[in-house]
Amino acid sequence: MTVSDPSRLSMIRRPDASATTRGRRARVLARRWDQRTGSWHGHVFDTPGFTTLRAAVLDLVDAQPGDRVVDLGAGDGFLTLPLARSGATVLAVDIAPSMAQACAIAAARENLDVQTLVADVADLDLPAGSVDVIVSSYALHHVGDRDKRLLLERAHRWLAPGGRLVIADMMIGRGASPADREIILGKVRSLLRKGPPGLWRIAKNAVRFGLRTGTEQPITLAAWHKLLTGAGFTQIAGRHVIAEAAIISGHR
Ligand SMILES: C[S@@+](CC[C@H](N)C(=O)[O-])C[C@H]1O[C@@H](n2cnc3c(N)ncnc32)[C@H](O)[C@@H]1O
Repeated sequence: MTVSDPSRLSMIRRPDASATTRGRRARVLARRWDQRTGSWHGHVFDTPGFTTLRAAVLDLVDAQPGDRVVDLGAGDGFLTLPLARSGATVLAVDIAPSMAQACAIAAARENLDVQTLVADVADLDLPAGSVDVIVSSYALHHVGDRDKRLLLERAHRWLAPGGRLVIADMMIGRGASPADREIILGKVRSLLRKGPPGLWRIAKNAVRFGLRTGTEQPITLAAWHKLLTGAGFTQIAGRHVIAEAAIISGHR
């Protein structure tokens, strides 16, 4: 773990039966996203779908100068940078060192109030009541189901009274609902257009999503709603923004 300002947080290391699996998963994710830092930037920063999603998140957050914000799985600053430009103080947490470094460099270039932390969000803990807004974009589907629940419970505790949580992510099930099936079919069609490499991706994803063995474990908007409710959030609201991309928010 590295952090640009260690005084701001405390970390937990909860030894339990799933710690080894989580450690292995964390190493895979860190390596994968270290390799994808540059290509992910090109994939999201100025593409229409992600621009729409980011605008919707920023609108909901409505960051004010001085807000204390935590960005979970911040990448190279897709949400962190615009939030910090609004005058918020942002802690950008990411498991991949090169993502955190790219975020820190971009923030320093604009002299923004951003701290970066290389850590697995499943191990993150912060002082109770120390945060006004928690955001996350396209990261929490990488967190296992049990850890999603535990993370939300801790996140609720980190928030000051009235604090908000806004999560944008792929929110999709394994095809139980017509909406899921429509999204999955759309993906299959677009992969089929890529020929043999697309066919290979379809086969790989069918196994990983179907058996939930990969590092991507998205859940539906309804499942997120249930998790936020269970963690104690109020005023919960969620909606699909574009294809599988959805946003859910709640208040403490
Ligand atoms: C798809 S990218 C999204 C990055 C950024 N939030 C955005 O919207 O552009 C997923 C990011 O989540 C990070 N990530 C995945 N699993 C994580 C975990 N368990 N803890 C912290 N970061 C994680 C990855 O390293 C990567 O930077």
